[in-house]
Amino acid sequence: MAVNYDETTGIFTIQTEKSSYQMQVDRFGVLLHLYYGGRVNGPMDYLLTFADRGFSGNLYDAGEDRTYSLDALPQEYPCQGTGDFRSTCLVMENFDGTISCDLRYKSHRISDGKYKLPGLPAVYAQEDEAQTLEICLEDQASGLEAVLLYGVLPKYDVITRSVRFVNRGEKPVVLRRASTACLDFLGGEYDLLRFYGRHAMERNLERAPISHGVTSIGSRRGASSHQYNPFMIVAEKGTGEDFGRCYGMSFVYSGNFKGEAELDQYGQTRIVLGLQDELFAYRLKNGEEFYAPEVILSYSGQGLAPLSQNFHKVIRHNLCRGTFKESPRPILVNNWEATYLDFTGEKICEIARQAAELGIEMLVLDDGWFGKRDSDSVSLGDWVVNEKKLGGPLSAIADKVNAMGLKFGLWVEPEMISEDSDLYRAHPDWAMVIPGRKPVRSRQQLVLDFSREEVVDYIYDSLCRVLDHANVEYLKWDMNRSIIDVYSALAGRQSQGEVLYKYTLGLYRFLDRLGRRYPQMLIEGCCGGGGRFDAGMLYYGPQIWCSDNTDAIDRIRIQYGTSFGYPVSSMGSHVSAVPNHQTGRSVSFKTRGAVAMAGSFGYELELGKLTPEEKEEVKAQVRAYKRHWRLIQDGNYYRLSDPFAPDGLGAWEFASEDGKEALVTVVTLNTHGNPLTSYVRLKGLNPDGWYQEESEGRMYQGSALMEGGIPVPYSTDEYQTWQLYLRLRGENI
Ligand code: DGJ
Repeated sequence: MAVNYDETTGIFTIQTEKSSYQMQVDRFGVLLHLYYGGRVNGPMDYLLTFADRGFSGNLYDAGEDRTYSLDALPQEYPCQGTGDFRSTCLVMENFDGTISCDLRYKSHRISDGKYKLPGLPAVYAQEDEAQTLEICLEDQASGLEAVLLYGVLPKYDVITRSVRFVNRGEKPVVLRRASTACLDFLGGEYDLLRFYGRHAMERNLERAPISHGVTSIGSRRGASSHQYNPFMIVAEKGTGEDFGRCYGMSFVYSGNFKGEAELDQYGQTRIVLGLQDELFAYRLKNGEEFYAPEVILSYSGQGLAPLSQNFHKVIRHNLCRGTFKESPRPILVNNWEATYLDFTGEKICEIARQAAELGIEMLVLDDGWFGKRDSDSVSLGDWVVNEKKLGGPLSAIADKVNAMGLKFGLWVEPEMISEDSDLYRAHPDWAMVIPGRKPVRSRQQLVLDFSREEVVDYIYDSLCRVLDHANVEYLKWDMNRSIIDVYSALAGRQSQGEVLYKYTLGLYRFLDRLGRRYPQMLIEGCCGGGGRFDAGMLYYGPQIWCSDNTDAIDRIRIQYGTSFGYPVSSMGSHVSAVPNHQTGRSVSFKTRGAVAMAGSFGYELELGKLTPEEKEEVKAQVRAYKRHWRLIQDGNYYRLSDPFAPDGLGAWEFASEDGKEALVTVVTLNTHGNPLTSYVRLKGLNPDGWYQEESEGRMYQGSALMEGGIPVPYSTDEYQTWQLYLRLRGENI
């Protein structure tokens, strides 16, 4: 049993293979958090301490006991109104405008399998693979019920959390803040690892001690954003890749979010993750429900590498869905950096012809195939094929591409509308524009009100008309601006605070319908690259265009940051031309290929302009990727270096779960006169085995490679790539 409730002590214990999580319903019915960490077998309520502390108020029920204060005790789901002044999960406005809530235990239920969240993405599991714990808390004064949901997947050391709110009271209430998960730590010194960035430079790692005050990350942009990823790690001071205690929290949601880390006045640490409270207010009338999106939690007592691997596994196997979640993704060529909007049907077919000769498996027609889209200021919303530009119907291009032996894929940006479009002329109120105000433009486009069902349905129908008439086997779903003018013509005065949440639900409804109608179609998420790179989107499509930055060296850092919370199979990654269009940097074809292969692999350049030697390299890369595909996608991924460190290397490894094979890639990031020798320590090998390195045939002992490392060949040039493929002796793979 992964979940246990002890009636005599009121303690709930959740067990995964290597972690334990405990909470207790105390004598007042308050749900206290006791422990989350390495696996333990006994009650942990002895950890709680009580003291009479000034300015930390006491629950009325505690009577004259001044030592009982929710300002100091660890809590499972803190709310505003009980005297806890730390970051909170729930802020509720009562019908009379007062802000207060006091949640107490009412009941609980333990069941096999994993709970589901209507309309929201969530981890799924077989009945025998997971258990669900539901703890119902209630606020007696208002009648609000908050049902805390826990999904336990023991084999991944994963616990998921969500909250179902139900208003059982007569009067309406407004949720002004409804975060999903809180983690309270009684003592210790922790660092927060967060992943910040900007367009074309996403998910840089920043690690800093959690100090007094509140460190807050989040998004108010309508999408999870390039600026902060909705994934964070809390690591005990000193924790590294292979040692130390650490916790990951991933928000399975693609809209606004907020994550907070606080060291409180008593030296305790609190982490809260969930929906952004700014621009949010959700009204619940009698009987109405609201779901807080899911947070995936995982713990590792052996450092960051196993923590990341837990997330990789649960995302790959129990969050991603559909035909392509476990099967090889086609190696693609995308025409964007080759042509931008300036192409003809003939040009696209020419790229496909080149691709076919090189062994590439799919052609993706990016932006520019619809309406009169020769510039990025027009036609969003008009999902009608521009047959003049393509020289015929889309089906003709798709058929030609198919006849060359390639699959055909298409780009779309369904959430947007150009003012210069037939759709805008017909339905100006479908754009999010606040009445009486001028909207803020971005890339000359406005956002469609996806909180409205009719808008979603209209765009869905118009896209289906395109997809039904051509053999489209891949769809790139893009979103190229943030949402600024938050307004829905259908929402009343009191419901504008619900618009962004309902927008995200509208997006999910669309994607879900699309996935069910075209189950064989591979969907790749995109938001100007990685502006919506989150676990929520991965429920609808197993890969996301990682960044608009295709420079191999920047990509090493972007993919490194991304790897902490997401599997390589989720990172769309392409070889592009040099000098690189975003950075102007020139890097060898070999290095560009090696970096792109640490992801869902493809090309994005004028294949016709490649030299004969480069074409041979493409063929070799395609062969190599196909050969190592399973190892790359299913193997354990290890970060072997910190590419942000001064004089750092880019170094990573894929090792099969059974340790029989490993692929190591090292890229030099600097060059110096009389350079020093760098060593990388390999991981995930069989310590007792002997490994043969393929290119030189040399034998190495597993424990030697893991303990002593291996010297990186001397190089007097920067951005050089060195790859090692190792096989356990006696194994034929
Ligand atoms: C932004 C994407 O990230 C690019 O790859 C490309 O699809 C453009 N949009 C097209 O407008």
